[in-house]
Amino acid sequence: MADTRTTKPAASSREWNAHAYHKLSAPQVSWGKKVLARLHLRGHETVLDAGCGTGRLTGELLAALPSGRIVGIDLSQDMLRKAQEHLRPQLNSRVSLVACDLLDLPFGCVFDGIVSTAAFHWVLDHNLLFTNLHSLLRPGGWLEAQCGGGPNLALLRERVGALMNVRKFRAFFSGFCEPWLFQTAEEGAETLGRAGFVNVSTSVEAAPTVLDNAREYREFISNIILRRHLALLPAEDLRTAFIDKLVEQAADDTPPFFLDYWRLNLSAVAG
Ligand SMILES: C[S@@+](CC[C@H](N)C(=O)[O-])C[C@H]1O[C@@H](n2cnc3c(N)ncnc32)[C@H](O)[C@@H]1O
Repeated sequence: MADTRTTKPAASSREWNAHAYHKLSAPQVSWGKKVLARLHLRGHETVLDAGCGTGRLTGELLAALPSGRIVGIDLSQDMLRKAQEHLRPQLNSRVSLVACDLLDLPFGCVFDGIVSTAAFHWVLDHNLLFTNLHSLLRPGGWLEAQCGGGPNLALLRERVGALMNVRKFRAFFSGFCEPWLFQTAEEGAETLGRAGFVNVSTSVEAAPTVLDNAREYREFISNIILRRHLALLPAEDLRTAFIDKLVEQAADDTPPFFLDYWRLNLSAVAG
């Protein structure tokens, strides 16, 4: 079984520790449920879950589509294996899980709707992303999504930026760029419009998240937020020292172990 307590990095930049994500993703699942609550489903639609992860929300969506179909796609094989296991009791011909990149999609224009939660900010080219998604939707098809946006994690990112510059770590981060794109509501709306979407509505909302204790904070930032940073540190003692410093700083916050999450909501229709 995968060990979620260490700072051991995933094998490649596209891979996740899916076991850890499945266990730690209560914040993402609670935000995602609010996105699913925005849907007006008739129950027979064909829907894409773009960046489905371990399938916790894909399962909820399936339950709302008693005679519909869902295709869950993800770049990470480990996430898809976990999704397969999680959805096993619900798996039937109405659900497919497909390994692919949101920037290179193998589908035609077959979907009535697209749902995506906590995934788009990991894709750095939103022009191509939204153009690709638009091409999958039947005329009048809809997109309901949420990802990180606005000043997402500004406090943590500032601390991480300073830490990456410390002599002990600096050489390992030479040329490193943040692995996320956090658009503002205005940027998100413009990008969707350029891709051909209409009836576009976007907003950024605060989603402050407080984790219970140092252990939970360590696991969360190691396995979810900073997995790509840790993958660049070549030894366990370096990874531990990097995370130790951030845990120490978070312990002094008010409240302790606080993450300054902000979410970008995206709603649009294929024009
Ligand atoms: C934080 S997880 C969110 C999973 C799930 N939607 C949820 O809300 O729990 C982000 C997911 O997006 C996937 N992802 C990131 N970039 C991707 C890309 N270019 N194509 C497909 N999936 C991608 C990751 O592999 C990961 O499973």
